[in-house]
Amino acid sequence: MDIVSLARFQFAMTTVYHFFFVPFSIGTAFAIAIMETIYVRTKNEVYKKMARYWGNIFLLSFAVGVVTGLIQEFQFGMNWSDYSRFMGDIFGAPLAFEALLAFFMESTFIGLWTFTWNKVKPGVHALFIWMTSIGSMISALWILTANSFMQNPVGYTIKDGRAEMTDFFALLKNPQLFFEYGHVIGAALMMGGVIVAGLTGFQLLRAKKQPVSDETKHIYKTSMRFGMWVSLIFAVLTIAVGHAQMQYLIKEQPMKFAATEAIYKNTKDPAGLALVGVADQKNHELKGSIEIPGMLSFMSYNKFSGSLTGMDEVNKDLTKKYGKYIAGEKMNYYPPVNTLFWSFRIMVGVGMWVALVSIVALFLTRKGKETLYEHKWMLWVVALTTFLPFIGNTVGWFVTEFGRYPWTVYGLFTIKQSVSPTVSVASLLTSNIVYFVLFTALAIVMIGLVIKELHKDPANIENPQLLEKFMDPFDKGAF
Ligand code: HEM
Repeated sequence: MDIVSLARFQFAMTTVYHFFFVPFSIGTAFAIAIMETIYVRTKNEVYKKMARYWGNIFLLSFAVGVVTGLIQEFQFGMNWSDYSRFMGDIFGAPLAFEALLAFFMESTFIGLWTFTWNKVKPGVHALFIWMTSIGSMISALWILTANSFMQNPVGYTIKDGRAEMTDFFALLKNPQLFFEYGHVIGAALMMGGVIVAGLTGFQLLRAKKQPVSDETKHIYKTSMRFGMWVSLIFAVLTIAVGHAQMQYLIKEQPMKFAATEAIYKNTKDPAGLALVGVADQKNHELKGSIEIPGMLSFMSYNKFSGSLTGMDEVNKDLTKKYGKYIAGEKMNYYPPVNTLFWSFRIMVGVGMWVALVSIVALFLTRKGKETLYEHKWMLWVVALTTFLPFIGNTVGWFVTEFGRYPWTVYGLFTIKQSVSPTVSVASLLTSNIVYFVLFTALAIVMIGLVIKELHKDPANIENPQLLEKFMDPFDKGAF
């Protein structure tokens, strides 16, 4: 085990874990904001009860998201100090904006929202959750601004071996950010819908064994249709943006694109889409593939013609552009092809599956129909779909981040150049183990608390919210 691999593993572990909770909280906050808005507009109490019920789940995801986000930030100083030195000037501004504007906004309004149920007008209360939701999306914008720079550096100059910002607005106008932001937010909102519908699936299954009141059942059924509508709308959006993003990659990061399709040699015209296969990275070929003729051309150029450049040719271009050696390190511009090929397919599969399940579930719960609720296996399908967006998001980031190999900042700074010069294998092993144990414990606590909250009766959520139990500044006359 070498230092670079251990540092990369640790970064991947902390990021993947953190990113379980980021789209979870962005998605559920948005779903709750819609629920409360419906309540304000229609005065239908069911939506108020739904907002309170799902609100507790959102608060849990927010809390764990903050904790894991802090650990995530430690990574830069701990294991990637040379990267931080190189990128500090660029990273600093967006991250400061994120903390000062977006995170503070989100945290302030989350507090107001949590403690003011029945204390302010319903419209004002709904405004608080909207501000929380918007704050979380602005927060994502700043983080993705920094990430997009790493994929496509813009608005900078290199001075004394460091990247220095010359044009802040160029960072915001980065075309990479445009796609990345749309895709990440779309996926997060889709996840919010899937969580509401999927966890309701588990509740309806439980209700088959332990009968619940008619009102509770009605809340579950409303949650199911609500969640499925949200997931359908945002699955379609995510798929559409992802499609445009892929076409953008063909021009901007052809190596990443070719690797997601495991194309080594330039393709025929028209090019077929490989559904499955295993990349033989030694002989540069895709083995055991099953192809849909012409489909890759269609996905790439919106027509059934046109060929695509393979990794071997892109590698020659990159070697010519950046050289065989960078900072004394022999370069290999091929990313891990099988990881990209399969991650891409799993991500796309998750999007298609969520869209399909949503359509079927909405159809089977349409007015006067109860088919979905009658069959246990159908409820299980919906319930188990809860976990898929977590997988889809993770492999989505695999495509983006493994695909920029061997760079941390595309074309400017390599992974090997980025790692801290002072860390050792022993310290990395220790911190990896500590984080792993910590994350496992946190996951157990989080799952336990979510189950506990879910077991509460949504029809009877008059008892105080999760945090109100411990502290209510308004009752103490603090304001
Ligand atoms: C047909 C469906 C989809 C297509 C064509 C697609 C396409 C893409 C592409 C090309 C990238 C890499 C972008 C880059 O490196 O710059 C990407 C990244 C990503 N995808 Fe997807 N995607 C799809 C569905 C989904 C779904 C359903 C999810 C969530 C469950 C998802 C989550 C992500 C995430 C989190 C990233 C990393 C962030 C980013 O670069 O945008 N994708 N996707």
